[in-house]
Amino acid sequence: MLKACSLPKSHSPYNVASGSPPEREKIVLDRLGDLKRSCYCGEVDESQEGKRITVMGWVETRRDLGQLIFLDLRDRQGVVQAVLSPGRPEALARAKKIRSEYVVAATGTVVRRSDETINPSMPTGKVEIHVDDLRVLNRSETPPFALGDGAPPAEDIRLRHRFLDLRRPAMQRNLVLRHQAALAVRRFLDKEGFIEIETPVLTRSTPEGARDYLVPSRLYSGQFYALPQSPQIFKQILMVSGFDRYFQIVRCFRDEDLRADRQPEFTQVDIEMSFARPEMVFDLVERLLEGVFALRGIPLHRPLPRLRYGEAVRRFGSDRPDTRFGLELCDVSKAFAETPFQIFRKIVSNGGLVKGIALAGGARYSRRELDELSQVVQTLGAAGLAWIKRQESGFKSSLPKVVEAAELEMAAQMGGLKPGDILLMVAGTPRIVHDSLGALRLHLARLENLIPEGRHDFLWVYDFPLFDWNDDAKRWESLHHPFTSPHEDDVQLLETDPGSVRSRAYDVVLNGLEIGGGSIRNHEEEVQRKVFDAMQIHSDEAQSKFGFLLEALRYGAPPHGGIALGLDRIVMLLAGESSIREVIAFPKTARAQDLMCGAPSPVSDRQLRELHLKVR
Ligand code: AMO
Repeated sequence: MLKACSLPKSHSPYNVASGSPPEREKIVLDRLGDLKRSCYCGEVDESQEGKRITVMGWVETRRDLGQLIFLDLRDRQGVVQAVLSPGRPEALARAKKIRSEYVVAATGTVVRRSDETINPSMPTGKVEIHVDDLRVLNRSETPPFALGDGAPPAEDIRLRHRFLDLRRPAMQRNLVLRHQAALAVRRFLDKEGFIEIETPVLTRSTPEGARDYLVPSRLYSGQFYALPQSPQIFKQILMVSGFDRYFQIVRCFRDEDLRADRQPEFTQVDIEMSFARPEMVFDLVERLLEGVFALRGIPLHRPLPRLRYGEAVRRFGSDRPDTRFGLELCDVSKAFAETPFQIFRKIVSNGGLVKGIALAGGARYSRRELDELSQVVQTLGAAGLAWIKRQESGFKSSLPKVVEAAELEMAAQMGGLKPGDILLMVAGTPRIVHDSLGALRLHLARLENLIPEGRHDFLWVYDFPLFDWNDDAKRWESLHHPFTSPHEDDVQLLETDPGSVRSRAYDVVLNGLEIGGGSIRNHEEEVQRKVFDAMQIHSDEAQSKFGFLLEALRYGAPPHGGIALGLDRIVMLLAGESSIREVIAFPKTARAQDLMCGAPSPVSDRQLRELHLKVR
């Protein structure tokens, strides 16, 4: 709280213009002069009763009762009521002229409200300021939407007028929370011996799997810098350079399809440590997250549960499972291994799967509702959704008549169906079955209201495969990035069976969102080259793209590893928001535009010429 101070004697504030109609009349502004704020609006309380204070802020509302005017004055800490009365005619006259969002300085005495006028919904509701001096510091046009605690307007209107939207208390709270989270991270990592080091923003392409944002070079015609998708290579080089423990709260840039939890520029808490084992990273990150989530009283029970990738996918159809509810997938392939229904039998005999989700009470679903569920799985490549309903008197099913009763019975038993339940099934390749049922599981949880409010389920997913087969490119690609180390026992498989090599990568997941990912890296050049070979990145290409890293690895690179946490996602979950745009001051829309400043935008021909570019 700021110290109380009184008004300077020489102040003569009231220069009210007269003549023009009151609505449009331009009020003559007062100077701030040497007037000082003594406390924030939101901090005025009974302890100041009888004191003369000065607050400064925006007029949220003005109620004019003729002889009395009430102003709700807002600043970043909250709102306080100011009262103007005929005892101070000049101040009252001044208050007649002001409108919503004018900027004022109000000086007066703190008075306790009478019992019947106390406003319990306002933290400052037990007091008000009886104003004797009111300075109007600036005017405001009528804002296009209300800036109080009420429901906000459509997002494009908010983003177009972000300068006003950020004035809303909800946005102020979110950005203060973001500041507190970043501060908690910095303090924690500093105490643990980590050094914050900045890495370049104008750099070379880094392989994190998205498209790069490119910046054309003026001095080198036809050449480009890339904005970093992450500081991955630089942080590894810092380990080679002996910094031992690095971190950075850093902006990353990825040109990819956007969603509620993705922005083209976003912030990572990027961490790397030498001589690291996965357990050391787990322990560090768990303690870091414990401190951050404590900001909102959200407990994190250490050590966090750990789930192998294979188990996560088998049980939840996802490598970032939301474990706040059940609806686990059950494998009913066995029930259909010998079925006369050819489609299922062929899928199973070709190494595919028939899996399902049992939904208690789901037998009530109508055909139309089941068609809607079918669309959910079809968008992820499934041919359709088959179902078995268990009724008191037997089964009803979408499967053709050739399917035998014993097969339905076996599948129903495997799914644990009771009368009134339904088993929703997909048959296909393991990838299609897991992806589509994973999406259906989330859809059903929302539809059936199965996600408990206020619960926070953190977990680690580990033991990922090192590679993923890209069927279009017909080659192996990294599941994380190519600097991830293979599991020590699987190095020899890099040449013979890349698909079965496990990696030393790990992700930290909260309520079904990936909030961080990292790995132990390849510190031996030879292993790094073998990984590139398995990915068909041949030596010339490896040399031209990552030659500087390969060279650094030849000069005594220590074993090292780390992680990057998604700060925007963490703050979003901390704030209880459902989009990261709510915790970023100036975000892009889902179509990657900044509606306030109008980016991206065309540039002048001169600029293009300087950059040796032509727009086609
Ligand atoms: P990764 O690509 O998994 O790892 O990114 C780390 C974390 O950053 C967050 N994140 C995003 N947040 C918002 N918008 C995006 N577009 C976006 N993309 C990613 C996620 C994710 O878990 N260099 C490695 C880290 C390492 O290996 O140490 C990396 O960048 O929360």
